[in-house]
Amino acid sequence: MLRTKSVRNLYPIHNFFSLRGFSASTKFRSFEEDAVSFERTVLKRQSARSFIEKDVPHDVLQHILGLTQRSPSGYNLQPWVAIVINDPEKKNKLHEVCLSQKKVLEAPISVIFAANHNVLENVDEVVRMEYESGNWNKEYAERTKRLATTFLQTGPCHTLQVAKYIFTSILSYIKPITQAPVNIKAYTWKSAMMAAMTFMLAASSHNLSTHAMEGFDERRLKQLVGLPSHYSIPVVICLGYSDEKENTSSRLPTDHVYRENDFEVPMQDINSFNNKK
Ligand SMILES: Cc1cc2nc3c(=O)[nH]c(=O)nc-3n(C[C@H](O)[C@H](O)[C@H](O)COP(=O)(O)O)c2cc1C
Repeated sequence: MLRTKSVRNLYPIHNFFSLRGFSASTKFRSFEEDAVSFERTVLKRQSARSFIEKDVPHDVLQHILGLTQRSPSGYNLQPWVAIVINDPEKKNKLHEVCLSQKKVLEAPISVIFAANHNVLENVDEVVRMEYESGNWNKEYAERTKRLATTFLQTGPCHTLQVAKYIFTSILSYIKPITQAPVNIKAYTWKSAMMAAMTFMLAASSHNLSTHAMEGFDERRLKQLVGLPSHYSIPVVICLGYSDEKENTSSRLPTDHVYRENDFEVPMQDINSFNNKK
């Protein structure tokens, strides 16, 4: 289908930068420049141990959150929400619930990424949007909805999901088939963490620092922000400015992490960005 969206709508960054008076907004850069700038964004991201007293401009936050939503999810179901904590009183309570990690008090903003275990909640809306925008034709939209429902409908006490898992595991000996996820929490955390990572990289591209945390009392945190029981929280991320100098944390040897075609075959000659030997 012929798309009628303008470049401006397809690339909201053009809006962001033109609003701030950058003329480069209309220029397209080369892929090499993009790769270098992405490398800078990735390497700049480090878990800030402290934040300075400086607010995050509202339009910058809006831009980061807008980009975060472009992260992918299975069947595009987007089973997550992000709760932005910017109220000082809430922040104090969040600090307590996050086991008094001082970065929560210092950072002007913290974002709670929460995964929705009611994973089919958005299916009708997503199918409608994709169909109406012309991304999916009627047949594809119906098929996707059918597949997602078959794959993810859990039934009472997840019994259906366990039955489907056993059935698909046995069927896999006969033909290739995706095993239905028996752990819906793990399933939804995949998508929620994709969003969390996108958020951190978007922040880094704005010279902002982040710190992901799993050290918090989930029960109290859910209560603090009124999250319904079918949500769980994989991560909370502090956001703000930091004056720490670059301190690249260590990574395992690349041939330990990357294998070529087979688990037993280490992949060679991958760039390592460890700055310490
Ligand atoms: C899911 C996740 C949870 C984390 N939880 C905490 C935490 O509760 N407290 C903390 O100080 N750091 C936490 N971290 C930060 C890690 O310690 C840090 O990412 C790691 O040491 C690598 O350092 P870097 O992020 O600077 O590259 C967490 C990171 C991730 C990805």
